[in-house]
Amino acid sequence: MATILNFLVAILFLSFISRGYCQCSASDISVTEFRTGFTVQNKLQWRVIIQNPCRCDVWNLTMNCAGFQSAQKIDPSVLSKSGDYCLINGGKPIFASSSFSFNYAWDTTITWDAVSLNVACS
Ligand SMILES: *[C@@H]1O[C@H](CO)[C@@H](O)[C@H](O)[C@H]1NC(C)=O
Repeated sequence: MATILNFLVAILFLSFISRGYCQCSASDISVTEFRTGFTVQNKLQWRVIIQNPCRCDVWNLTMNCAGFQSAQKIDPSVLSKSGDYCLINGGKPIFASSSFSFNYAWDTTITWDAVSLNVACS
């Protein structure tokens, strides 16, 4: 009986640990933006690198991208803007410890802030 109880406690403990292990929130997502050195239709080209530093995959990443414009066409499966928000990678996963990047072209940059995401625990 005691053994079964210990076993159950261990399971509970492990599932708690593994849940903690794959926590990730929007504030963990970091964004780096820099000039590529090229221009597209006379606009500066920028590269945006979205880094997922978490130990779990995230998907359905939505970022605040108010004011975003691009002279360079961006496939909606990469970035789709709706109002002040942009869905990244068509909502598909950005894997653990990986990054997702894209280029755009405009005179000015914006501040990219992750606002929501879903976490995939495997
Ligand atoms: C994706 O994120 C949006 C914005 O937070 C949310 O409204 C939507 O329910 C999410 N989709 C899924 C499938 O979880």
